[in-house]
Amino acid sequence: MTNKILFIANWKMFGDLNSVKSIQSVINLSKKKNYKNAKIIYCPPYTLLNNFVIKTRKTNLDVGAQNCHYEINNGPFTGSISSTMIKKLGAKYVIIGHSENRSNGETNNLINKKIHSAILNNLNVIFCIGENLFEKKNKKTNKILKKQIGMGLKKIKKIDKIIFAYEPVWSIGTGKVLKNKELIKQVIIIKNIIENKFKNQKAKIIYGGSVNNQNINNLKQINEINGFLIGGASQNSKKFIDIIKKTIN
Ligand code: 13P
Repeated sequence: MTNKILFIANWKMFGDLNSVKSIQSVINLSKKKNYKNAKIIYCPPYTLLNNFVIKTRKTNLDVGAQNCHYEINNGPFTGSISSTMIKKLGAKYVIIGHSENRSNGETNNLINKKIHSAILNNLNVIFCIGENLFEKKNKKTNKILKKQIGMGLKKIKKIDKIIFAYEPVWSIGTGKVLKNKELIKQVIIIKNIIENKFKNQKAKIIYGGSVNNQNINNLKQINEINGFLIGGASQNSKKFIDIIKKTIN
């Protein structure tokens, strides 16, 4: 993996064939010398994965899926996609444990199985963690994060292919973001939890939750993070480019 600044676009359940060409301006930007330090990764819906892989071929951009099944072999799992299929398609990343899936019943155990499957397939995992509003209000944030990390990474030995995406659930799509001081404090706690569990290994942590072209000037000041996981604002190439430009310049 890379030490570059990560800009991961999570398109969620948005986008159709027409949106594939909209990323051309982002590809053009990535070719400029100034932006060599930016690692841009698109996670479109499954229906567009192949198109994105083709579109980003011979560019610096990479592609990831938004989820996968835990089973690596083919099987009777209607509606599911395995990490093996994702890998074979040419995608290099997969988001696992997003709160929008956790809230649909995805447990820490299931997430753990999915992470094992992705690692077996040599995919990079964007592992989402974060507390919801109830947990935050009840001062359970650190306990929840510890549990998500502990259970999610059970029997995982190396974290070199894992990107930890700290996404407070209450911040996703709401425009609400922690003040830098509080966010830094939280990221350091997460780093400590991870590096206590994985001795002598470095945790790569990114932030997600209402990142946009307005608050990026603030967020980019945070040295403790390695980049951003961006939902809404990443679907609009102008806004996404604005975020990348403001961060790099
Ligand atoms: P928003 O940037 O739309 O808040 O979404 C964040 C997110 O869930 C990325 O995975």
